[in-house]
Amino acid sequence: MKITVIGAGNVGATCAQLLANAELANEIILLDVIEGIPEGKALDMYESMPIFESDSRIYGTNDYAKTKDSDIIIQTAGLARKPGMTRDDLLVKNADIVNACIGSAFEYSPNAFYIIVSNPLDVMTYVALRKTGLPKTKVIGMAGILDTARYRSFISMELGVSMQDIQGMILGGHGDTMVPLTRFTTVAGIPVTDLMSKEKLDAIVARAAGGGGEIVKYLKTGSAYYAPAAAAVQMVESIVKDQKRIFPCSVLLDGEYGYNDVVVGVPCVLGKNCLEKVLELNLNDDEKALLENSVVHVRETIEEAKKLLGM
Ligand code: LAC
Repeated sequence: MKITVIGAGNVGATCAQLLANAELANEIILLDVIEGIPEGKALDMYESMPIFESDSRIYGTNDYAKTKDSDIIIQTAGLARKPGMTRDDLLVKNADIVNACIGSAFEYSPNAFYIIVSNPLDVMTYVALRKTGLPKTKVIGMAGILDTARYRSFISMELGVSMQDIQGMILGGHGDTMVPLTRFTTVAGIPVTDLMSKEKLDAIVARAAGGGGEIVKYLKTGSAYYAPAAAAVQMVESIVKDQKRIFPCSVLLDGEYGYNDVVVGVPCVLGKNCLEKVLELNLNDDEKALLENSVVHVRETIEEAKKLLGM
């Protein structure tokens, strides 16, 4: 297993480290345009492998030739938000960056699976799909696991019970227009609505939707990376170990939920073939309306990206 992480910033470097610590790949390539940073971070991680008792080998580079024949490419390169910015404010710069990075990676790894992490997430996943021409099963975006993890951690905080017992599913675009399925949220199998008032749950949903922005406000110079990296690595784990876990991931819809030619988060089965199945849920009218709102928003931004890139 060879995995390339494009972007040696906070998200990319944390991804590489988590992948290596868990020995999810024999070879991990950390690539960045900045000279020295990927090499230095990768060597530092390599030197930590005896302590983590892992035999993953991590190499840093500026050269896409070194990524040749990767099995999985994780795209993290791109600008991060600063306070006051929305993810869509990153579109102009990140569309160019993602288009270029994915184009170069694809030259050397046409058979890889691509996991997109750069923002605005759903739109960047669409750009990567179009750039590579790969089927929807091989190009997927990380967002739903992150949004759901925030949602689950806030429920755990509120109830004072284990994180592990909280299950939730979130649909739609990444962030503000996400669609939390509160009626499918359970705590050890018990509907969360039996354990918490609607007001409390609504407040938690709002905090999860704004969860990325909450971190940006604290960090000031960038955005979250521990949870985003952990989420991307959890997707890799399900693929590498063929676990067939069910996660919300951003994928191209062709008919599912009544939509076509748009990327949004839906429940997905991830296994050795990457995206193996999209699960279609029977949404109620409120959920359908929220998903529609999310799709409309993502579609508008996809149209802008297409114009920018002449796609
Ligand atoms: C977040 C960014 C990374 O949600 O999208 O933290």
